[in-house]
Amino acid sequence: MTLIAPSILSADWAHLEAEIRAIEQAGADWIHLDVMDGHFVPNLTFGPKVVETVRKITPLFLDTHLMITHPEQWVERYAKAGSDQITIHAEACADLPSILALIKSFGKKAGVALSPDTPVTVLERVWADLDCVLVMTVHPGFGGQAFMPGPVSKIAQIKAKSKCLVEVDGGINAKTAPMVWAAGADILVAGSAIFESPDYKQAILTLR
Ligand code: DX5
Ligand code: ZN
Repeated sequence: MTLIAPSILSADWAHLEAEIRAIEQAGADWIHLDVMDGHFVPNLTFGPKVVETVRKITPLFLDTHLMITHPEQWVERYAKAGSDQITIHAEACADLPSILALIKSFGKKAGVALSPDTPVTVLERVWADLDCVLVMTVHPGFGGQAFMPGPVSKIAQIKAKSKCLVEVDGGINAKTAPMVWAAGADILVAGSAIFESPDYKQAILTLR
C-alpha cells in the first residue's frame, strides 16, 4: 500500500486549518512539512511554531522534512513541536549516525533525504538506523518543479540495502507517480498535484 503525503507548502496559507481538514477528509495518510531556512536552500518557509500549530489541528502523522543547515541544533525543537518523523538532509550533516540517534532519542522516526546528485553510498554507515530514506526528484527548495527521473534508480539501491521505507518527493503527479510506484516507493509526497487540483480527494485517489 502506497502512502500519500500532501506537502502543505502548496496549500492556501490564508486558510491553513481548512486546508488540513480538507486533505484529512480527502484521504491523506501523512502530512509533509517542508522546513526551509534560506541557507541550505534559497527559499524560506516556516519553523517549529507552525509544526506545533499543525499538530494541534490534526492527528495525522507529521512528516517533517528539514532543509536546513546544522539540523542537529534544531531536532529537539521539531521533535517537541509534535513531528512524528524528522528527516534531515545527508548533505547538511557532518555526522549522520549521531543525528539519527538524536532524533530517535525523542521517540521519533528518523529519515535521511538525498538531493538528486547525492549517491546512496552516503548512507553506508547508517543503514541499520534508518526508518525512511527520502529520495528527492527535484532540487530541494521549491514546490511545483519538474520531476527528474534520474534519482528513481536509487529506490532499488536502497531497497537492496535496508528494510526502511522509501519516500519520493518532488514533481510527483498522475504522470510521474506510476514510475516511482513501479520502482518500489512506499510514500509519495505531493504538493502542487494535490493543492492545485479542484478536488483533493480525486487527486489523492489518482496518485494512489
Ligand atoms: C521541495 C519540497 C517538496 C515540494 C513538493 O523542496 O521538499 O516537498 O513541496 O512539491 P511538488 O509536489 O509541487 O513538487
Ligand atoms: Zn519535502
